[in-house]
Amino acid sequence: MAKQKTVFICTECGHQEPKWAGKCLGCESWNTLVESTPTTTVSGKKIKKSSKSSSPLNTISTEEIPRVHTGLSEVDRVLGGGVIAGGATLIGGEPGIGKSTLTLQLAEQWQGRKPVLIVSGEESANQLKLRADRLHVKGETIKLFCETDLQAIVIEIEKTNPGFLIIDSIQTIVTQEVGSIPGTVSQIKYCGYELISLCKEKQIPLLLTAHVTKEGQIAGPKVLEHLVDTVLYFEHGEGDLRILRTTKNRFGATDESGFFLMTGDGLKEVAEPTALFTTQRESGVPDGITCAILYEGSRSFPVEIQTLVTPAKGAISRTFSDRVESQRVSRLAAVLEKMLKLRFSDQDLYVNVAGGFRLTDQGGDLALIVALYSARTGISIPSDTIFCGEVSLAGEIRPIPHLARRIKSAEQAGYKKIYLPKGRFVIPKTKMELIHCASISEMIQSVFR
Ligand code: TYD
Ligand code: MG
Repeated sequence: MAKQKTVFICTECGHQEPKWAGKCLGCESWNTLVESTPTTTVSGKKIKKSSKSSSPLNTISTEEIPRVHTGLSEVDRVLGGGVIAGGATLIGGEPGIGKSTLTLQLAEQWQGRKPVLIVSGEESANQLKLRADRLHVKGETIKLFCETDLQAIVIEIEKTNPGFLIIDSIQTIVTQEVGSIPGTVSQIKYCGYELISLCKEKQIPLLLTAHVTKEGQIAGPKVLEHLVDTVLYFEHGEGDLRILRTTKNRFGATDESGFFLMTGDGLKEVAEPTALFTTQRESGVPDGITCAILYEGSRSFPVEIQTLVTPAKGAISRTFSDRVESQRVSRLAAVLEKMLKLRFSDQDLYVNVAGGFRLTDQGGDLALIVALYSARTGISIPSDTIFCGEVSLAGEIRPIPHLARRIKSAEQAGYKKIYLPKGRFVIPKTKMELIHCASISEMIQSVFR
């Protein structure tokens, strides 16, 4: 028998190579190529004649996309308002983070007329019922189908015609078309594509869950990301905090985060994150610590940045920063070194964000830079002061969007003094002291006077 031709597919980006290589040419990741059957020829299907035709751009109507609220407002927030008929959403996260819990709670809250179909390839009906009892999920409108075979699942979807389809998880679904081992890149791509296409055709909102492991051993949800409309990542915050982040959204913003607490009876939504990412202290604030007022998606809230600067242990200075991109930290330290003649190049820098928040908002620059200054000099920053602004390579403080909302939220959170960029923007009425600075030297002088 002729040996079936195989290819090597990157588990990170889906790039295909005819031969194995240590490094993926697509995304430059190491040791991510795995042997697989080529996805382009496996289905053996003929190209269907399309019923669609092109139409002039000016005749296309722009009705607003109808959305169905999920019943969990933190989930609606990250989706951009709710699920869309025929839209596919992927939720990735480490095993045990709470994906199955979240999907079951979503199914219970479902407001649509037609039932929700949960396809579980991970757990037995018994296990699912136990979880449902723990979550006080009655499940009157939930249909459960414990199956991993794609063909059987497709038949069940045709039969039940659900209002919402949940597949938990896509890595467990198999089709004989691409071998018998679940979780391979070919299986995930093939099954994912078939389910997404079917749901598009039938206008069913689809939610797929997928595990990601730190080692990237199982083909991660990366290979599915370009097929779905929305990609969400479920991550650990500090303690019981769980953060649902949008990383791709064809129908909404990508800088949204949803916040939940994992409790004894399921996930509880946190609508007001003011106290989630700051620390209550009896005594003063230690040096190296201060707060930024962030604007994420559609909310503004304070976030505490913690830094530590110590003489470098090696010949070169290193930056240890999980929650803020380390290049950003190094860049800001370099700006401080250049502008204020404060040496960082012989120091190791450690940066953390309270509550396990991932800082991406450029408005956090200013707080990060004062925190580094404070850590390096040992002078602490008053606890009633908060910062927002972007810092340029020349040490200028640049304007950032949503200043008015940030000022309001900072005041509501109890801050008395806020450092801001200079510029023309509408300032809301506030009792806080507003200090506009053009450069970091001006700001540092004012803060540490
Ligand atoms: P689960 O939803 O099974 O995670 P995933 O599907 O992402 O693998 O959640 C597993 C964890 O959540 C498990 O450690 C138990 C915990 N948990 C609670 O703390 N409270 C609950 O009400 C439930 C259902 C689970
Ligand atoms: Mg699960």
